[in-house]
Amino acid sequence: MKLKAIREIFHRELDKVYPKEEVDSFFYRMIEEYLGADRFVLVLNPDFSVGKNEEAPFFKGLSLLKQEYPIQYILGKAWFMEMDFMVNEKVLIPRPETEELVRWVLEDVQRRQASPEILDLGTGSGCIAVSLAKLVPRARVTGLEISDDALAVARQNAKRHGVDVRWILADMMDATAVKGKWDIVVSNPPYVREKEKAAMGNNVRLYEPATALFVPDTAPLRFYERIAQLASENLREGGALYLEINQYLGPETVALLETKDFSEIELRKDIFGNERMVKAVKVGTAIRA
Ligand SMILES: C[S@@+](CC[C@H](N)C(=O)[O-])C[C@H]1O[C@@H](n2cnc3c(N)ncnc32)[C@H](O)[C@@H]1O
Repeated sequence: MKLKAIREIFHRELDKVYPKEEVDSFFYRMIEEYLGADRFVLVLNPDFSVGKNEEAPFFKGLSLLKQEYPIQYILGKAWFMEMDFMVNEKVLIPRPETEELVRWVLEDVQRRQASPEILDLGTGSGCIAVSLAKLVPRARVTGLEISDDALAVARQNAKRHGVDVRWILADMMDATAVKGKWDIVVSNPPYVREKEKAAMGNNVRLYEPATALFVPDTAPLRFYERIAQLASENLREGGALYLEINQYLGPETVALLETKDFSEIELRKDIFGNERMVKAVKVGTAIRA
């Protein structure tokens, strides 16, 4: 079948679900992934044809896209910090906002020229832990996660990118989950309130893991309370905590951190202009006295 005919079928079936440009983008990503060809193959050769075996994954992908199944799960791959991460339904798909959090950590680490000990809480696909291990070669990175299935994905991602990360399977809410001395604690914990669910797209709500996303309306900061406590007990003096946060709970998250021994608490907006990240520096006992 001609590739351009498959493209026409994609538009006929999917234009009512997604914007046209997005449908093209899905199609081109499949060309790259399934045919190993350049996305401009149709410009260079408008009559490019594929055999029955080659066209099969396109039609399988099409039927999943119709159900708003995420393209990253279809391809088993997501890009994060210009690195390809394996993903499946057991892990959250890495987001561009989280790249901004990683870049914030990188800015500070590079300025300090240190060999930091880094702890990533709720590591999921390992996108934060693995990219920091790759981009800060002197760092010693640990990733903690409650889901065994997610940790299996994180392990594969570390292998894929040739980095050594220590993995801990544990519940971060458990007070004994982790003990150590860290220079950096970073986390993108679950923060979407149940009442915010209705505003989310089907691609997220139906297919991404609920344990990675949701918190009760009555305790939206439950993970932040625990992480703030854990970081305050386990960060070295002058060490820093970096958090991705719910855009509607910036002031509340800052207020929570102010109740612990942190200083230089800074709230940052993401590229979309939403209050999305917080950094806080652990105060030493000498400074507090
Ligand atoms: C928002 S996702 C973030 C995943 C990844 N760090 C990222 O930024 O894409 C939150 C992660 O925390 C994990 N998680 C949820 N509850 C947890 C708990 N009590 N202890 C440890 N990890 C937990 C979830 O399984 C999920 O992988």
